[in-house]
Amino acid sequence: MKITTKINLITTAWMLCIMIPINVVVFILFMKTTINMEEDMQNQKAADIIKDLDTLSSSSDMEKKLKDYLTFHSYIRIMQPKNRVIFEVTNDRLLSKKMKGKYTENPYAETHLITAENGEEEVLVTRFPIPKGNQLSGSLEIGERLIGLEARKELLRAILGFCTVLGASISLLGGRWLANLIMRPISNMIHTMEEIEKSGVPKGITIQNQTKDELQTMASTFNRMIEKLQVNMERQKQFVSDASHELKTPLTVIKSYANFLKRHGLEDKEMAEEAIQAIHAEATRIQKMTETFLDLAALENENIIELKEVNLVVLCQTIFKQLKDVYRREITLFSTESPIIIQADELKIKQVIIILLDNAIKYSHGRIEVFLEMNQQQAIVRVKDYGIGIPQEEIDHIFERFYRVDKARSRETGGTGLGLHIAKSIMKLHKGEIEIESKVGLGTTVKLILPA
Ligand SMILES: Nc1ncnc2c1ncn2[C@@H]1O[C@H](COP(=O)(O)OP(=O)(O)OP(=O)(O)O)[C@@H](O)[C@H]1O
Ligand SMILES: [Mg+2]
Repeated sequence: MKITTKINLITTAWMLCIMIPINVVVFILFMKTTINMEEDMQNQKAADIIKDLDTLSSSSDMEKKLKDYLTFHSYIRIMQPKNRVIFEVTNDRLLSKKMKGKYTENPYAETHLITAENGEEEVLVTRFPIPKGNQLSGSLEIGERLIGLEARKELLRAILGFCTVLGASISLLGGRWLANLIMRPISNMIHTMEEIEKSGVPKGITIQNQTKDELQTMASTFNRMIEKLQVNMERQKQFVSDASHELKTPLTVIKSYANFLKRHGLEDKEMAEEAIQAIHAEATRIQKMTETFLDLAALENENIIELKEVNLVVLCQTIFKQLKDVYRREITLFSTESPIIIQADELKIKQVIIILLDNAIKYSHGRIEVFLEMNQQQAIVRVKDYGIGIPQEEIDHIFERFYRVDKARSRETGGTGLGLHIAKSIMKLHKGEIEIESKVGLGTTVKLILPA
């Protein structure tokens, strides 16, 4: 079932649930008060009759007098013990025949439902004992068909019925309007989603009026999500194009050397040797590059880091030992205190420090220094080299993917321009920062700031 139909039916059902009991209560109260009023009037009439009875002498007088009190559909009786009727005047023979008389010593009133020519009718009967000391003894009984009440009852029923139907219809229409109002943005969204599904191109929803309600929040959230998706798709596209571009260069070198070998074989031993060397070097470069790509892809996909206590002093010492064996370069550690404990993902922080040391090794020949500091809020790692440095205007760009200051020089050193980008991403995951200070020809200092 459509949600609009559901809302419509629920509001109408709810409306009926409220209206029907209210109508029933109104109806019952109306009947009760009307009968009470009729009863009061009949009580008054009975008191008047009893007063008059005392003054009358003959039974013909009595008949005349009592007939004055008769309405169109009523009877008046004088009763004696054993329910004996000793006197009766009536305008409605049928009614007096249907209603059996009753003698009473206590006053009371009751209503009876009788069958009449057109359906059923209510009859009000009041009975009063005639006080002792009166000329007559016994009790007085007045019966009257409440014809006016019947008519009013029908009218009220019709009015209440009409109001209920009208209420339900208005509720149906209102429910439809309400459901449409609620559903419009949702339908828009569904429509847009279907379009995205068909075309595969993410796009946002047009928000017509600024209502500041949940639906608008939902639409803007959807739009924000789509925007993020678009940015990600754009990035992915850019990455694929950058990556393939990066791979193209070494592949071209490999292909041209391979062609050379195909044509000349091993005739020229020296040239052949060079070709093989170059092919090997480029293949190694591609292998390293793909490893970095995978690293980066993993980093961009999983935004989760496993935080645990890491001692930066011990971590640096371990890294230095591993690098010293491979590169044979002097790296010195300066630490203001020991241990320096932070909450971090050990493997990822290790990766960042290696990226920085790798750069320092590649882009300098002298000594390399690492400084560790710790204060109340943060731990600071500084990697300092005395190498070629980076021109000031390039510093803003070197965190971009595949960005290298001097492409020719970087080719010699075998970089892909991804190292610092990866380092920055990892620092971001740790809510830390990475800063660079550098002077061309003097050296570079990279500063890592990690929350303690
Ligand atoms: N310590 C440094 N001294 C001088 N230049 C640097 C230093 N660190 C980075 N750079 C410059 O910034 C560029 C980007 O560095 P990044 O580490 O991102 O890439 P890469 O070293 O070229 O390649 P990769 O690290 O991916 O193998 C480098 O190409 C280099 O020109
Ligand atoms: Mg690097």
